Amino acid sequence: LQKYLIAPSILSADFARLGEDVDRVLTSGADVVHFDVMDNHYVPNLTFGPMICKALRDYGVTAPIDVHLMVKPVDRLIPDFAEAGASIISFHPEASEHIDRTLQLIKDCGCQAGLVFNPATSLSYLEHVLDKVDVILLMSVNPGFGGQSFIPHTLDKLRQARKIIEQSGRNIRLEVDGGVNVDNIAEIAEAGADMFVAGSAIFNQPDYKEVIDKMRAELGN
Ligand code: DX5
Ligand code: ZN
Repeated sequence: LQKYLIAPSILSADFARLGEDVDRVLTSGADVVHFDVMDNHYVPNLTFGPMICKALRDYGVTAPIDVHLMVKPVDRLIPDFAEAGASIISFHPEASEHIDRTLQLIKDCGCQAGLVFNPATSLSYLEHVLDKVDVILLMSVNPGFGGQSFIPHTLDKLRQARKIIEQSGRNIRLEVDGGVNVDNIAEIAEAGADMFVAGSAIFNQPDYKEVIDKMRAELGN
């Protein structure tokens, strides 16, 4: 198992040349494609759905696709994303009427299941469903937009989540999303994260490899 995963958020990619841009970031050393789905209802922005995910698979993308659903309702899209080639599907507990059922649905569709926590959402949602969770995704910004600043309080929450994972004895990924960059990634890893989403920090630079190499150097891996 790879210790640290870097997951560029294609929210900041060039949509007019998406396949090429995703290829470029993967050959630059990224591990996972982070795919932000926004519905202009759960969050005040609108992005893309399963068709674009399938288009990336058809284009030849073989890396894991990490689908971050910022939609309400959630369940209807899950089989569609599984069929479109999603590897991980994560959702916000506030957006699901039945969290246990939604997690089970993701597993039944053959994907890994993630729960996403907004900056103000309590980790207590994990209490009764931890055995069904493969990924805990902590938002370090309020969801909806790329390019926001990392909320420092997330570091405490990461430590808390890391403790919960250790106590569970399970192999759960701890992913962080929002405002991650070369300057703060080491501190975020130290707090317990092992999967790092970065959108603007990577795609707003001309040389993706240079940024990803710097991130890995910061992580010592
Ligand atoms: C925000 C998204 C993030 C975002 C990250 O709602 O979930 O994935 O695109 O972008 P940066 O890295 O620019 O904060
Ligand atoms: Zn995201």
